[in-house]
Amino acid sequence: MSYDIGGKTAIVTGAASGIGRATAERLAEEGVNVVVADVDVEGGEETVACIEDDGGVARFIETDVSDETAVERMVEETVKEFGSLELVHNNAGVEGESATTAEHTEENWDRVVNTNMKGVWLCMKHEIPAMLESGEGAIVNTSSISGQTGAGDAPYVATKHGILGLTRTAAVEYAQEGIRVNAVAPGVIDTPVSDRFREANPEEFEQFVQMAPLGRMGEPMEIGNAVAWLLSEEASFATGGLFQVDGGFMAL
Ligand SMILES: NC(=O)c1ccc[n+]([C@@H]2O[C@H](COP(=O)([O-])OP(=O)(O)OC[C@H]3O[C@@H](n4cnc5c(N)ncnc54)[C@H](O)[C@@H]3O)[C@@H](O)[C@H]2O)c1
Repeated sequence: MSYDIGGKTAIVTGAASGIGRATAERLAEEGVNVVVADVDVEGGEETVACIEDDGGVARFIETDVSDETAVERMVEETVKEFGSLELVHNNAGVEGESATTAEHTEENWDRVVNTNMKGVWLCMKHEIPAMLESGEGAIVNTSSISGQTGAGDAPYVATKHGILGLTRTAAVEYAQEGIRVNAVAPGVIDTPVSDRFREANPEEFEQFVQMAPLGRMGEPMEIGNAVAWLLSEEASFATGGLFQVDGGFMAL
C-alpha cells in the first residue's frame, strides 16, 4: 500500500477486462472496497475472484453504462453494500466499427457514443450525488490520445474529445464541494482492444506503436497506477486535468 485511500469505496466501470481490471486490482491492493461494473458477467466475476484471491474486497455489479436505470442501480447498490462512495474510474468503452466518416452507420454511431460518452455522463450524474453525501470524491474518466488527435474512427474520436469536455465541466462545477475530476489519456495499451487492431492490420499497428518515443505498448497496470494516484490524496491539487500516459506519443 502506498496511498491513503484504504477503507474507501470505488466503482470501476469496464472492469471485466484490460485497463479497468488493472485499476480495480490496484485500488483493491490499496485496501479500497471495489465495485467491478461491466456488461461482461464472466469477466467481471473473474476480476472479483482475482481481487479476493489476493485478499482484497470486491463485488461485481452487472451494469450497462449506457442505460440510466442500470447506472442508478449500480450506485444505489454500491452505497447499500459499502455505506458510501468516494472514488470512481469511469472507464467502460468500445471502439466500434472501423470506417471513414462518410461510411459510418447510425447504429454504430449510437452504440459508440452511448457507451463511451453518454455512459460517462450518466455515471457522473449518479455518482456525484453519492459523493456529495460522502463529503468527498475523486473521479477519473478514461479519454485517449484519440481525444486530442484524429487518430481513430470518427465516433470513437468524437467521444474521447467529448469526455474531456465532461471532465472539465464537472471539475469546475464541483471543485468547491470537494470533488476532483480528471481524465487519463492512454496511448496504445496491451488489451483486447489493441489485439483486435493488431489482427486487422498487423503492419500498420506495429508502425503506430513504434511512433511513440518509448516505442512499445503500455501495460494496463501502467494506467491503473496513474489512476490510483489521481484518486489518492497525493493528487489533492489536481482537478480538471488531462493526464497523458502514452509513452510520449502526444509529445511528438
Ligand atoms: N487499449 C488501448 O490501447 C486504449 C487506448 C486509449 C483508451 N482506451 C480506453 O480505455 C478504456 C478501457 O479499454 P480497454 O483497452 O481496457 O478495453 P477492454 O475491451 O479490455 O475493456 C473495456 C471493458 O468495457 C466493457 N464495456 C463495454 N461496453 C460496456 C457498457 N455498455 N457498459 C459497461 N461496460 C462496458 C467491456 O465489457 C470491457 O470489459 C476504454 O474506454 C478505451 O476506449 C484504451
